[in-house]
Amino acid sequence: MPAPDLTRRHSLHALAALAWPAGVARAQAAGGITIRLSHVVARQTPKGLALERFAQLVHTRSAGRIRVEVYPNSALYGDADEMQALQLGAVDMLAPSLSKFSRIGFPEFELFDLPFLFADQEQVRRVQSGTLGQQLLAALSRQRLVGLGYLDNGFKHMSANRPLRVPAEFRGQRMRVQASRVIAQQMRALGAQPVVLDFGETRRALATGVVDGTENPVSNFWTQGMHEVQTHLTLTHHAYLGYAVVAQERFWAQLGVAERQLLVQALHQSLVWGNAIARQENAQALAALREVGGTQVHDLAPAQRQQLQAATAPVYQALGQRIGPHWLAQVQAAVQG
Ligand code: SIN
Repeated sequence: MPAPDLTRRHSLHALAALAWPAGVARAQAAGGITIRLSHVVARQTPKGLALERFAQLVHTRSAGRIRVEVYPNSALYGDADEMQALQLGAVDMLAPSLSKFSRIGFPEFELFDLPFLFADQEQVRRVQSGTLGQQLLAALSRQRLVGLGYLDNGFKHMSANRPLRVPAEFRGQRMRVQASRVIAQQMRALGAQPVVLDFGETRRALATGVVDGTENPVSNFWTQGMHEVQTHLTLTHHAYLGYAVVAQERFWAQLGVAERQLLVQALHQSLVWGNAIARQENAQALAALREVGGTQVHDLAPAQRQQLQAATAPVYQALGQRIGPHWLAQVQAAVQG
């Protein structure tokens, strides 16, 4: 059964009105090139910081001719409408979480959501920089997107108004999830009820009791002020959260070769830098969280982790067909090295 989807209804008409007419580059209108890049998290997160750095590098290297306007915190678009905004040309670039590509026809991206698949970021890196990761980026052209690279946030943890250390503690909890069937199934396997919600609406939903808990890396938990509305955070480290930076194909094709090269190089450098600081950003967020108190932080004992892993193991079988057995086999082989 699909998880209830409480996301905002997007208005395609409103987006279409914002879109630039085909063939008219933003460059011509502004006497330079202005690139609009929208995302849903705060500036002080691995993604927020890496994209700001990208904007700065582009500004410097193009001597101000190319401007990347970064709109954080769902200021322009949220989860429910950002992909449509990109496809219609209302924005030029996005950096959605990998989980959010299934909504536009890429269920194989949900392999990154599989619980307890990756032991650490090095394994993730091996997958993303290898054949599988590159094939996934290339496949985005099916929806007229240019896949430009991957960016880490980190590993997710479970929060609620109770500790979530073993499946029995998940029972009956309404857990906010991204629109990923793998994540929804993971929550069901634990005995919880998944509720699909926009990231930008999650804190309020937690505060008002629409949902009881959620999962996120600590940097997102902290910068959204979720610690003010969740009394417990259990460091489950159960699955990975990362992003793909994408551009709209038509916009990309309008750029000159030198411009594309400048953007690719600046982005690549920013992603490498972002991946290097992601762990530290999450560690700092955790330290800040511990310092302000309020939310109790629980470590997971090996036996508890084992219970969570065993409970969620059937997700692989249940969703293997949706992800694609060949993708699943490839990722498992790549993880093992
Ligand atoms: C993000 O990090 O971009 C948001 C993740 C989420 O929706 O939980």
